[in-house]
Amino acid sequence: MTISGDSYFAIEASLTGFKPPEMPVEVPTAEALAEHDRISRCWTSTHAGDLCVGSEIHKREVCRMFRETFNPYRPAVIDWPNLSSEELQRLTSLPIWNIAVQTEGKARLNFAAYASTLPDREIGEALMLNAWEENRHKDVLSNLVKTYQIPLAEEPAYEPPRDLEWTYLVTGYSECVDSFFAFGLFEVARRSGFFPMKLVETFEPVIQEECRHILLFANWLAWHRANLKWWRRAQFELRVVAVWIFIAWERMGLARGFGKDQNPSRQDSNFTLKSAGSVSPVEFHFRELMTLCLRENDRRFAGYDIRLVRPTTMPTIIRFALALSKL
Ligand SMILES: [Fe+2]
Ligand SMILES: [Fe+2]
Repeated sequence: MTISGDSYFAIEASLTGFKPPEMPVEVPTAEALAEHDRISRCWTSTHAGDLCVGSEIHKREVCRMFRETFNPYRPAVIDWPNLSSEELQRLTSLPIWNIAVQTEGKARLNFAAYASTLPDREIGEALMLNAWEENRHKDVLSNLVKTYQIPLAEEPAYEPPRDLEWTYLVTGYSECVDSFFAFGLFEVARRSGFFPMKLVETFEPVIQEECRHILLFANWLAWHRANLKWWRRAQFELRVVAVWIFIAWERMGLARGFGKDQNPSRQDSNFTLKSAGSVSPVEFHFRELMTLCLRENDRRFAGYDIRLVRPTTMPTIIRFALALSKL
């Protein structure tokens, strides 16, 4: 059976008893926005001593971090700036809008579906909030697309995932890859002046939210691994290897297909990796761009409790690639 993304998300939410966070009714002042922003990027546990990975305290504090750093911005009140015809043309021609909207829609379902199966209520609620935030990203993008009249392909019907753990892992690791490159590209866009600052800043809470998401994912992974019996752990690690192979294959496949196929629904999910040229008039070299991604990655995570586990795969691969490129 195929059901619409929205109703599927609602079913999963009702299964977990998830209540969406309370949102301020009034349009926030600039001071309130700045305070929400500060809270969303800085968090330290009040627990003294170690947050031993896999322990009850680790789980409790990770979930608390996720709840307490929630940013209550509302997509509906975003004041989209007027764009010159040149800026509008640049924005419209970015080859990301279909893939971005659909990725958020799928992430929402995949996280919600997995959350609804978890026996641990605290973790389930944190993942459900993550799914809710993906839905809000989708709303931000949908409002932008509507405001600037960017043509979109029709969204596909979102199929409920069959293997919930597999889909959750693929979505979580894909977010780790995309967020790492998005951190650097966002900074490139901010510095370039290619788009008005007001438009770039609109996406700042979304980008920081992705940082929180992959922080939650990395800590869920570490907690989950630590609580598996050795033979379940061995199976799980094989699964993780298969997930990385799948992601690499998917991205290489898309990279080959991109450009040959003019179908607007087949935009490139490797955009975050390849598109500094679309957000800046200045040409970036590999080393320069990857160094910026690493720096931005460190900066965005710097405000969170040092005892929490960080996503390390992408930074490690890129540091290794940079070291190799020096030889
Ligand atoms: Fe998202
Ligand atoms: Fe996310």
